[in-house]
Amino acid sequence: MIVTIDGPAGAGKSSAARRLARRLGFRFLDTGAMYRAVALAGKRAGVDWDQPEELAAVAASLTLELSNDAILMNGEDVTAAIRTLEITTLTQHAADNQAVRRLLTDQQRAFAAGQDVVTEGRDQATVVFPGAQCKIFLTAGEEERARRRFLDLQARGEEVDLAEVLRKQRLRDQCDTERAYGGLAKASDSIEVLTDGLNPDQVVDRLAEIVQGVQ
Ligand code: C5P
Repeated sequence: MIVTIDGPAGAGKSSAARRLARRLGFRFLDTGAMYRAVALAGKRAGVDWDQPEELAAVAASLTLELSNDAILMNGEDVTAAIRTLEITTLTQHAADNQAVRRLLTDQQRAFAAGQDVVTEGRDQATVVFPGAQCKIFLTAGEEERARRRFLDLQARGEEVDLAEVLRKQRLRDQCDTERAYGGLAKASDSIEVLTDGLNPDQVVDRLAEIVQGVQ
């Protein structure tokens, strides 16, 4: 069974999807982590961001291994390194790159082949797994999302300003929504869950209920 969870930045997708996967005994696939890892590799390789084929070549040479709570890039644990503000911004180059999207889409399908998976991202229901049995669109108001992201970055020790986080989030939402291929969109057969005012336990309960409803 494939459960897709798509939605904008800061809706609480990652933690909810990870916990849902654990509860169901499914594998968890964090597709945002894959785009982030490609950006990190591009930065380390010193690619020219205006030459998409350079980043595509770097992406093609990477081995990404994902487990429920970590990502290894060529064997190195980059789980924390991909979450900085700088990498978050650079990730748009990976997300806008069609060759990278094709490559990661293939890897995501290979990861899920023959498995029970909860997968999380922007295009999981629309592009990568259009035939998924259970599709969820998880979202929250933009202020709430920015506040969560701010607290998360603060907890990681980054110097952040709430207004700046909100500004960057708006830009990211805009890029994610306007992307011609693989952009953020709610599939017509997705169930929308608004997480405003719900605590993490309540969100996971709601998601588990939805999955049980389609099983
Ligand atoms: O979910 P997360 O914030 O880690 O994703 C980082 C970025 O990767 C998103 O802003 C989006 O641009 C891109 N992304 C994507 N398609 C996905 C997952 C993430 O384009 N399936």
